[in-house]
Amino acid sequence: MAFPQEFLIGAATAAHQVEGNNINSDYWLQEHLPHSSFTEPSGEACDHYHRYEEDIKLLAAAGLNAYRFSIEWARIEPEEGKFDETEVEHYRDVIRCCKANGVEPIVTLLHFTSPAWLIRKGGWEAESTIEYFRRYAAYVTEKLGGELNYICTINEANMGLQLAAIARRFTLMAQQAAKAKSAEGTVQVGMNFEKMMENMKFAAIENAQAFGTPQPQIFVSSRTPEGDALVFRAHQAAKEVIKALYPNIKVGITLSMHDLQALPGGESFAEAAWDEEFKHYLPFVADDDFLGVQNYTRTQYGTAGQLPCPEGAELTQMDYEFYPEALEHVIRRVHEDFKGDLIVTENGVAVSDDSRRVEFIRRALAGVESCVKDGIPVKGYMYWSLMDNFEWQKGFSMTFGLIAVDRATQMRTPKESLAFLGTYTK
Ligand code: BGC
Repeated sequence: MAFPQEFLIGAATAAHQVEGNNINSDYWLQEHLPHSSFTEPSGEACDHYHRYEEDIKLLAAAGLNAYRFSIEWARIEPEEGKFDETEVEHYRDVIRCCKANGVEPIVTLLHFTSPAWLIRKGGWEAESTIEYFRRYAAYVTEKLGGELNYICTINEANMGLQLAAIARRFTLMAQQAAKAKSAEGTVQVGMNFEKMMENMKFAAIENAQAFGTPQPQIFVSSRTPEGDALVFRAHQAAKEVIKALYPNIKVGITLSMHDLQALPGGESFAEAAWDEEFKHYLPFVADDDFLGVQNYTRTQYGTAGQLPCPEGAELTQMDYEFYPEALEHVIRRVHEDFKGDLIVTENGVAVSDDSRRVEFIRRALAGVESCVKDGIPVKGYMYWSLMDNFEWQKGFSMTFGLIAVDRATQMRTPKESLAFLGTYTK
């Protein structure tokens, strides 16, 4: 066995991407705007809300020992201040199902989607959101904390700044009439920038009708520096309340991190990007129990800034480079400044040929193993994703999963990569 006995090997999902019918969320509204930037709506997604037991059993049968999933705030608090006990019980069942199958549950409290009412109240640029998030975290922890060892407060808390940077680049590229599509491959999440630009003229009116503001501040919106800090203050508020209730729960946040590589002359660009993506958050996370590392690819910089993928590079369905070595590089880099425990809370690849996924996992985990051997406290690896699912604006065509899902019948078919990942616990 490559890893210590207690090392967590698992897979991750997010509620909105797999559960289905998340009707009280901001995303649901945005997916159904007449000029939506979404390729298709999430609909019943993978119906994981009803089929979680089958999914967790497949994960466990393959030998995986951890499952990272998210609790949906819009289900728990569909209207401001109205908490739904039956939804808490649903998540209690999911957690118990994990345990009954020998799987460690790792819960995320916010994975991009928020209740629509929160956005009507100013969303992720409004000071009041800190208190709303604290109250939600307190409610969930009071009810379910006794069953949990790990909580990720917020998924990819740095996404807003990454999107702001992309939006700047995209505008520039559009102005230069460059091939706009290639901008999408520079962010580690499914976004349809071209469609967004086309729809912009309608979006303001339709958003105003849905959210009472032409520019709703959802979690995945371009963020101001104040909004950026607000997200981390919300994390700190949630962490404080979780720790007060259950001091033994390990609490962390997760960050989307690229392997930023400088070619000669690109050093200052790469440094600035690393500072924006990671370093400036250190004061907010320094005392956390762990940091969630999420990585998918690398970005290179030259004398004029960010470079396109190297000539001839293998691209994933997401249009970014197939480069599993990025994970090891990011872990080593993070460890230079963050000395606490690390958990790889997401790492994966969207490909149609599953043998490329096996190869990706093999190379990524070889990197993790080498970090562990060197004494870096990496405590787990969660592959993204357990199953093919709703890749946000890009819809269902991106296949990241270890399990294939037939969209018509919801039938599950485990891929070879699921069994391969399971061999790491044996
Ligand atoms: C997100 C996931 C997403 C994945 C693949 C991460 O940015 O946390 O929700 O599906 O990357 O793009």
